[in-house]
Amino acid sequence: MTKKVYIETLGCQMNKSDSEKILGILETQGYKETTLKEEADLLVMNTCSIRAASENKAFSHLGIWKKLKKANPDIKIAVCGCIAQQTKEKIFKRAPQVDLIFGTHNIEELPELIKQLASKEKVCSILKTPYESEEKFYSRRQEGLSAWLPIIEGCDYFCTYCVVPYTRGRQRSRLPEDIISEAKEIISQGYKEITLLGQTVDSYGKDFGKPEITLSSLLRELNGLDGLMRIRFVTSHPADITDELIKTVAKLDKVCEYFHLPMQSGSTEVLAKMKRPYTRDEYLTLVNKIKKEIPDVAITSDFIAGFPGETEEQFNETLSIIDEVGFDQCNVAAYSPRKQTPAAVWKDQISYEEKKRRHLVLFEKTKEATVKANEKYVGRVLQVLPDNYKEQSDEIILTGRTRNNKLTHFKGSKDLIGRHVDVEITEASIWCLKGRIKL
Ligand code: SAH
Ligand code: SF4
Ligand code: F3S
Repeated sequence: MTKKVYIETLGCQMNKSDSEKILGILETQGYKETTLKEEADLLVMNTCSIRAASENKAFSHLGIWKKLKKANPDIKIAVCGCIAQQTKEKIFKRAPQVDLIFGTHNIEELPELIKQLASKEKVCSILKTPYESEEKFYSRRQEGLSAWLPIIEGCDYFCTYCVVPYTRGRQRSRLPEDIISEAKEIISQGYKEITLLGQTVDSYGKDFGKPEITLSSLLRELNGLDGLMRIRFVTSHPADITDELIKTVAKLDKVCEYFHLPMQSGSTEVLAKMKRPYTRDEYLTLVNKIKKEIPDVAITSDFIAGFPGETEEQFNETLSIIDEVGFDQCNVAAYSPRKQTPAAVWKDQISYEEKKRRHLVLFEKTKEATVKANEKYVGRVLQVLPDNYKEQSDEIILTGRTRNNKLTHFKGSKDLIGRHVDVEITEASIWCLKGRIKL
């Protein structure tokens, strides 16, 4: 009999991609995904520990699930992802309703763990290094035109605020031949766009010690695959962007003009304390080079407000860099001390209220920047790949993204889904662009 699994995914795209892998593996064990947690036999919480808020969110969901389990004690609850990797079996103490805990390195072990769960009350398996399995598992990808494809896992940078190297381990690039064969499979399933994933996606290949294997070489190979329309990659680390990569993005027709290039702070001193290996000026030079080589490129970023010791002046440097660069969009967060990371125990922590204030000021600033960046395109014609639609009165409103990743709505017909459409932009807001088909 098929059993039902409900999965809640918090955190970044890497986690979302892991959830697709988990669903693929669970399918081989007789589970089918449900979007109704009330009817699930197995509830899986794929957690994120980047900030305290993400951690709290996971435990608040688990609180709700506790009630479901009380009503139906046969329900099993599993916790995986970055909190699981970091906190291990201590999760059982904080949330005794949990039955299974597994880490970020042992998703492939899931069939075995599910078996164990049949005879044991609690199962916890956290591997320090990736699980080696002979078997190849397939991901149950979400429906649509766009698929995620992880190409590199982990991170070697150890920024002083960040848990990722502890939850995901050291950098490991996947073999180009494995990536290409998975890409072919993705295309054969009907996907038109592939987003290559990695915490520092542009450092792909560095761990092979073969200078000819880089993100650029991979993009060239992928660009040659028939049936694929668009290629994206996230997240790029500013220190790993090479001239070759910029030229490759500029040249290849399927590779979209978009870089997510987190800067974190506009102050050179704060960047040094964060262990980000670039200065304000170097970042600016890089961005200007990208803009010069790639017309209409969108550059998005992440910033942290209230890093330990950040002065008002240094914070103002973050505000001013946003005007100077003209970012298309920025994610901003108040600094959150995370266990295992060096900055968490520094003495010069900024008060909660002040971090909150700076976060809000920064948020408002980035909103203005996004509106400005979007308004630039009013009157221009951009290529959109519609992937969805909604019916409004008697009309069909198509939704898709421009090559530079801007959500765009326009009137059209359903048969345009999955086809490139030239759209004349008529309106821009913080959230999206609106336009009409260019005849
Ligand atoms: N690999 C990417 C970032 C991954 S984490 C990079 O190097 O840029 C995603 C974002 O979360 C980061 O860019 C950072 O802005 C934010 N972040 C990470 N740790 C944080 C912390 N302790 N407090 C607040 N924000 C944090
Ligand atoms: Fe975290 Fe820094 Fe690695 Fe990004 S580069 S994942 S911020 S340690
Ligand atoms: Fe969160 Fe882990 Fe991603 S900490 S941001 S889910 S790598």
